[in-house]
Amino acid sequence: MLLAFETSCDETSAAVVHEGRILSNVVSSQIALHGEYGGVVPELAAREHLRNLIPVAREALGQARVDASHLEAVAATLGPGLPSALMVGVKAAQAAAFVLRRPFVAIHHHEAHLYSPWLQGQPPAADFSEFEPNVALIASGGHTMLVLVQGEFEHRLLGATVDDAAGECFDKAGKLMGLAYPAGREIDRLAEGGDPKAFAFPRPMLDEPNDDFSFSGLKTSVRYFLRDHSALLDDAKGLRDLCASVQGAIVEVLVVKTIRAARRVGVKCVTASGGVTCNRALRAELATACRREHLTLRLAEPALCTDNAAMIGILAERKHRFKGEEASLDADILPSWALARE
Ligand code: KG4
Ligand code: ZN
Repeated sequence: MLLAFETSCDETSAAVVHEGRILSNVVSSQIALHGEYGGVVPELAAREHLRNLIPVAREALGQARVDASHLEAVAATLGPGLPSALMVGVKAAQAAAFVLRRPFVAIHHHEAHLYSPWLQGQPPAADFSEFEPNVALIASGGHTMLVLVQGEFEHRLLGATVDDAAGECFDKAGKLMGLAYPAGREIDRLAEGGDPKAFAFPRPMLDEPNDDFSFSGLKTSVRYFLRDHSALLDDAKGLRDLCASVQGAIVEVLVVKTIRAARRVGVKCVTASGGVTCNRALRAELATACRREHLTLRLAEPALCTDNAAMIGILAERKHRFKGEEASLDADILPSWALARE
């Protein structure tokens, strides 16, 4: 029985897992709080985590019908993420581990994302019986990367964004269109029925021979486009076409680079997680491309795409059980912790 915390960005989450099953996964999102500012404000995020973590943890234990005294370990995201936000979850987990005299397990946020596509069913449980080496796309508001996952606990970073994340591009493009933060889901909704070929936006780094991404140029081109075509925002069809065109550019870059990486490294499976993986066009295009290339596709369930403590708990439990991993109760947060490239 393990309790996990995730507080690396703007979701306060606690989950209880037991033998690969998620007994509870409570997520308190701070979207409304940061919406006013058009992006995550680190200091506000940290204060909100401080306010919410105990109620969220209590709710997670309650839903799982587990008393804190039954916990066998406590885990938290050690990094990467916003320093003051990470600190809340890590120090709370270490304090709980100290009082309960249980081990503390420290988890890498991106490594945990690699496991969410393997959580299936209702209630979700980890199913690694069909595990195959894969190329994992992680695309969210804070990160966009491709990771080669050769086996359990065995992975290396293939490439990542050199500037904005894919979700950040959705959000910033949406802001220019006057949509509320975070705009990804609204662009997804408006793009339905829009023509993705209506306006030509750049596909940054699509043809470069590496697995890196860049999305800030795309955002800039949306800014210039709107400077010259501002009337378009008042036209419902025009706005739908614009959303579909911007979404089309982001999705094409993500899909083409993911498939190309999978083919190059020779895996037969592609997985995807992160908030942007909720995008319906991305899910559909990845499915089409994988079918065409005879690749197995495993997409995280939409509810587990965004940041959550369940993925932290599942990985922590496996690391503790199979590798005997535990971290010091004095372990410090690692805000810039990067996945190894080699
Ligand atoms: O994983 P997540 O909750 O955490 C981070 O903030 O990193 O991802 C949130 C991001 C936001 O940028 C949001 O706009 C984007 O995921 N997002 C979407 C959709 N749903 C969420 N982007 C495109 N289409 C969606 N349906
Ligand atoms: Zn994340």
